[in-house]
Amino acid sequence: MSILIKNGRVITATDDYMADILIEGETVKAIGVNLQANADTVIDAAGKLVMPGGIDPHVHLDMPFMGTYSSDNYETGTRAALFGGTTTVIDFILQKQGNSLHDALKEWKGRSDGNAVGDYSFHMAVTDFNEDTRKEIREMIEEEGITSFKTFMAYKGALMIDDRQMVGLMQEVKKHGGLINVHATNGDMIDYLIAKHKSEGKLSPLYHYLSQPEVTEAEASGRFADMANYTGCPGYIVHLTCEGALNAVRNATRRNQKVFVETCIQYLVLDASLYEKDFEGAKWVMSPPLREKKDQATLWAGINQGLVNVVATDHCPFMWEQKLMGKDDFSKIPNGHPAIENRMELLFSEGVQKGKITLNKYVEVACTNPAKIFGMFPRKGTIAVGSDADIILVDPDEKHTLSAKTHHMNVDYSGYEGWELTGKVKTVLLRGKLAVDNNKCYLKKGDGRFIKRKKVDSKI
Ligand code: URP
Ligand code: ZN
Ligand code: ZN
Repeated sequence: MSILIKNGRVITATDDYMADILIEGETVKAIGVNLQANADTVIDAAGKLVMPGGIDPHVHLDMPFMGTYSSDNYETGTRAALFGGTTTVIDFILQKQGNSLHDALKEWKGRSDGNAVGDYSFHMAVTDFNEDTRKEIREMIEEEGITSFKTFMAYKGALMIDDRQMVGLMQEVKKHGGLINVHATNGDMIDYLIAKHKSEGKLSPLYHYLSQPEVTEAEASGRFADMANYTGCPGYIVHLTCEGALNAVRNATRRNQKVFVETCIQYLVLDASLYEKDFEGAKWVMSPPLREKKDQATLWAGINQGLVNVVATDHCPFMWEQKLMGKDDFSKIPNGHPAIENRMELLFSEGVQKGKITLNKYVEVACTNPAKIFGMFPRKGTIAVGSDADIILVDPDEKHTLSAKTHHMNVDYSGYEGWELTGKVKTVLLRGKLAVDNNKCYLKKGDGRFIKRKKVDSKI
């Protein structure tokens, strides 16, 4: 099968030019002006932006968490991602404390194998680092293509590791060419504040926010950067939200240390005033919580300063019924928010269209950097001869409205209900196959492929 995309404006992280793209099988065969080819299908991209498929390196599909499961599985979650222009996601496996990493991998494969519509990969969350786990790190990297290891500095008793384990894990991961990603918040301090608020009868979603002040994130981010610097291990802070945490990373650059930073779309466009809506605030109960307007400004600036490298989602959806588990106690509200389908269009509309970032920066943080950092570049994350033909066509001027009534995520509310956006993903190709066109998905469960990743690129 061959496809010729004609007359498009091609945008990569570095380039912006008019060209035709010839796809043969799963990859890009040629790029040029007025390409003459007898393709099976011709797509006219006049007036459209032609960009690499998005990569969302932070999603939680079908994940057991806080006494329930996130409501998108691999089928619904990756399909919704495709509708929104994201062709590859990286999901998190969670080791159970006391069990092995291989046990966790087996459990996750049981839920994901044969079920994804779009491409996916895994990070491995190490929640119990010991001598047995140590031996599994090399196997994960060399044999399974899982090259990034997630750590939690919070959620004590279930997911959190202490600094002794963190440093040991960093040394092992560095030895084998991997990377540590981290949920960097001070878990003990947060647990103290949760208990304090509950003892005072302060039980609404607002107190979720007030239990995780900026200092809890700034302190942990600085501590993580120090440990990564000491061990020399490449580090990546997931879902960074605020000025204090970004300043800790900025400080690390003064000793010539590179700490990769991911923020998520919600931290760029939403703020903590949403927690004042009584229990409706539960829609945005996530960790870390939404922050202040000044933090949004810091994050947009951080993207342009090259300090924030990736915009992800931390997609972790729960039905309203599940959120109600915390009706009388904010600490029981399952943490997480749906955005896998919305990220690319929100970032385009709020970022590019409002003049906060350039088109090249858009592709860099939503596609190219995640591919580079997590060992998938240049197969994914760009448009180049030989790369996977994961390509999206965006109408930059089409206006549309976000709503739970029309989205494809398996969740019965939207964190962005009624938002009017400019710029719509019209066509999506996944490895040379038509995945989405005019709001219809042509791929099915099982068409998505597990992507084994290379060792990390710590010098993007
Ligand atoms: O609230 C969140 N972020 N839920 C998912 C788990 C995590 O901490 O990333
Ligand atoms: Zn987290
Ligand atoms: Zn997460």
